[in-house]
Amino acid sequence: MRYIRAASLLCSLSKKPRAMARVLLLNGPNLNLLGTREPAVYGSDTLETIEKRAAAVARECGHELLTFQSNAEHELIERIHRAKAEGVAFLVMNPGAFTHTSIALRDAVLATGLPLIEVHLSNTHAREAFRKHSYFSDIAVGVILGLGAYGYEAAIRAAAQRLARPA
Ligand code: DQA
Repeated sequence: MRYIRAASLLCSLSKKPRAMARVLLLNGPNLNLLGTREPAVYGSDTLETIEKRAAAVARECGHELLTFQSNAEHELIERIHRAKAEGVAFLVMNPGAFTHTSIALRDAVLATGLPLIEVHLSNTHAREAFRKHSYFSDIAVGVILGLGAYGYEAAIRAAAQRLARPA
């Protein structure tokens, strides 16, 4: 696929040598419905397709992608708690509606000390006022909004660039 070759080129331009790292991609509530859920807002790609593309981009960059989706706040929190022990080096998360409500999920991210890129398919600033506030943006190294499914690929590439930086 063309865009993956482009991703590969981008990754190969980053500094070497690069150690393989694990990146954990988390998706929150209702994102399991992507493909049929409000396609005018969220696009027509399924979460499975998005995760497969993200995993391919991670592989091209020499990294491993773990994925997890849950509609339950405590399951996302527990998944984040396990991340460090599993050697995860970077978090990419679309917290869904928990973006606007969950101090507990924010605290779980902070407890890991891991870098986070926050992703949203839609531009939450161009929607209802209650979507403007995020409990994650100020603790994230970067935020990607409104680029649809491409935002996940962009986040993995950005994570790979960060991981290639000297410590
Ligand atoms: C979302 C935006 C949130 O406001 C919403 O609750 C979602 C999806 C997005 O990807 O655009 O579930 O995170």
